[in-house]
Amino acid sequence: MIPTLATKRNEHNNRAAYLPFGAKRDGPLRHQHILSVKQFTPRDLDAVIAVADEMRIIVERIGAFDLLHGKVLAVLFYEPSTRTSASFIAAMQRLGGGFIPINEVRYSSVAKGESLPDTIRTLEGYADVIALRHPETGAAALAAQYARKPIINAGDGIGEHPTQALLDLFTLIKERGALDGATVTMLGDLKYGRTVHSLARALALYNVKLNYVSPDILRMPRELVAELNARGIQQTETSALQDVLGATDVLYVTRVQKERFANLEEYEAVKDAYVITPETLTHAKADMALMHPLPRVGEISPAVDCDPRAAYFRQVEYGMYVRMALLAMVLGKA
Ligand code: NCD
Repeated sequence: MIPTLATKRNEHNNRAAYLPFGAKRDGPLRHQHILSVKQFTPRDLDAVIAVADEMRIIVERIGAFDLLHGKVLAVLFYEPSTRTSASFIAAMQRLGGGFIPINEVRYSSVAKGESLPDTIRTLEGYADVIALRHPETGAAALAAQYARKPIINAGDGIGEHPTQALLDLFTLIKERGALDGATVTMLGDLKYGRTVHSLARALALYNVKLNYVSPDILRMPRELVAELNARGIQQTETSALQDVLGATDVLYVTRVQKERFANLEEYEAVKDAYVITPETLTHAKADMALMHPLPRVGEISPAVDCDPRAAYFRQVEYGMYVRMALLAMVLGKA
């Protein structure tokens, strides 16, 4: 039996762990920490996508409005970032709010050895919401244990990147019109790539088929494959893109995460395992969407950028609308 949307998209994990101290759940993502895709219900995803599309229209028509006037976002980044930090800041500015950027932790008290809980308890004295990127898996969940204000996980080591998954879903829907029935192929570093960990979990709420293409040492974590298997998701693994490319509706390419390798020789051996070129795309569907969370470092040739299937710079822009929606929702204004 082909599962219907209603049977497939099961509500799950509505847990108090995602609510800051004293907060009440009274609407999709309202006053919640955003820690993992595991916490999202189908209703949450629908709400983010709908609000993000409203944000897109508002930005196109008037550029900015004062929905979050008087609110402040702290952007606490212990790892490099261009898109995630800039889009959070732009999102807050377009909603009339302020921001505190701490992305040079070298110049903050973190460099003096301050603990994450102390830094969080300090920033929440100034800010209404904190976006946190950290090299350790579980850092956002740890921060949330100490926070009275919502924590948004902007990437925790090799763990998750839930806001990227939301913008990836938004992009998928914008590019394809719908998600149900799609075959999504994830390619590259599926072991260390947090974006694919979050995206696979998010897609598991829809009726999709997942292909994983990676070198043997960079396969999708076994626990994640088992988790999705238990939820009835069809998953196929291979190291050869040509096995699955022709049937792919969305090709999601990722960077080999050099900074996560203990052994640089291992990285060198796999870093150029896949390169998408115009020739690769001659074997792909005419309406396939080619996505990448960026930064790319060689896995998609720039010669592909002018192909209408190359969606990655549209994906970047959608990230701002999705983060506008998230901030508005988490702060109870959407
Ligand atoms: C990703 C990340 O930080 O996980 N970048 C992003 O947020 N768009 C992907 C990566 O660094 O490869």
